[in-house]
Amino acid sequence: RSDFALKGRAAAKVVILGAGVAGLATAYELGKAGYDCTVLEARDRVGGRNFTIRGGDRVPELDGETQEARFGDGVYFNAGPGRIAQWMVTLDYCRELGIPVEVFVNDNPNAYLFNRGMTTPVRFRQARADTYGYVSELLAKATNAGALDRTVTRSDREVLLDFLSAFGALGDDDVYRASERRGYQTNPGVDAGTLLGPVPSFSETLRYGLGRTVAFPFGYEQAMPMFQPVGGMDAIVNKLADAVGSDRIQVSTRVTKITNLPDGVEVVHSGGSIKADYCVAALPPHILARIPGNLSPQVVGALQSPKPLSAGKIGLEYRRRWWETDDRIFGGITETNLDITHIWYPSYGFNGTRGLVVGYYNLAAAADSYAAMKHVDRRSRAIEQGVHIHGDKYRTELLNSVSIAWRRQPHIEGAWVEWPSYGAAFKLLQEPAGRVYFAGDWLTHLIAWQAGAFDSARKVVTQLHQRVLKEG
Ligand code: PHE
Repeated sequence: RSDFALKGRAAAKVVILGAGVAGLATAYELGKAGYDCTVLEARDRVGGRNFTIRGGDRVPELDGETQEARFGDGVYFNAGPGRIAQWMVTLDYCRELGIPVEVFVNDNPNAYLFNRGMTTPVRFRQARADTYGYVSELLAKATNAGALDRTVTRSDREVLLDFLSAFGALGDDDVYRASERRGYQTNPGVDAGTLLGPVPSFSETLRYGLGRTVAFPFGYEQAMPMFQPVGGMDAIVNKLADAVGSDRIQVSTRVTKITNLPDGVEVVHSGGSIKADYCVAALPPHILARIPGNLSPQVVGALQSPKPLSAGKIGLEYRRRWWETDDRIFGGITETNLDITHIWYPSYGFNGTRGLVVGYYNLAAAADSYAAMKHVDRRSRAIEQGVHIHGDKYRTELLNSVSIAWRRQPHIEGAWVEWPSYGAAFKLLQEPAGRVYFAGDWLTHLIAWQAGAFDSARKVVTQLHQRVLKEG
């Protein structure tokens, strides 16, 4: 059952621009309430940024080459969204559409931390144990020395010391030493195992710079458990498109003009034109702002105000799952301050033969520098950096790769946007401009999440439906 439904049926005709998550969700929800919807999509496939790349897929780039993916059977690369938090409405759509989901491993203590200048990577469990240990020891020392007596009462002191002892794995003397928390050199079994050692100094531990990454999985949007659709994120857009009906979705159809009329909207496109009672424009704002028509200068100005941001990813397919067999990393993310920024290990196909690692997922300037290169050069640079972390197998076991630079994706031209402020422009576009409504993650406080696109679509659909019921 659906957690969202429009009350009462209506029969207005609606033209929806863009078959990304927002556009498809709009068509899906309006369709359930009886509306006659047509979706126009400039690209030759639905989904927008929800883009899962498999063997045989082609990946075009603006002013650039077209890559062709050669991944093996069953291997896929979520080039756009890859993870869903448990509170997000995206999971309700997965349930409603019958899409099985599985856990996306967003935090793995066995994954690595690697900073420029390090000779070998350290496991997160070790970096965390040492950092928590030393910080706890320091605070326990200050407490015991009476340095906090003015702020910590005598009775709170014991409670605080108990907490610090547990949090930092301190000894009875409140000193931090190696424990199983850091991990083992040789694992316990019949033999006791040998602890990983030695513990680096306090000063060396500070140089892990854990502050940069430690809080990431504490975030409301990024906390475990997170989820992904089984078989690829595009299940969401494919199921939505099936429910809308392929006869209602026109792909390879570029919008060239949008005109508000007294009694409707006219949309001219590369294959003709269409007149409808209403229009829902679910395109990126910077693309929408360039389409001629009679939207007011204020509306066009508002559309120009959110700035598109860059992000890039590379999918690296390997002939064997060395990160599992050799490194014992089953999903999760390695963090580095090299410009690859993250390495994602796959959360599907565990213990299988081949597998696909995301060799970089970077933003802003780092993403722009990769975007400026040809695919082979992106690959070489990503591999060179990955070798510092994983050694030669990172190069020698590689089978195939595909990269994406979101600023160079035709008809998308950005990973997501940033508003200078959630001010007047943001507010203006929450309301229709005549008979044209706007939808997308960019109109929410959930930018860069499919949940934002869904939420925006629901809002617009509700507004439009109320108007139709009132105006007939
Ligand atoms: N949703 C995207 C991701 O999880 C982008 C994003 C990153 C959004 C971090 C918010 C915080 O990678």
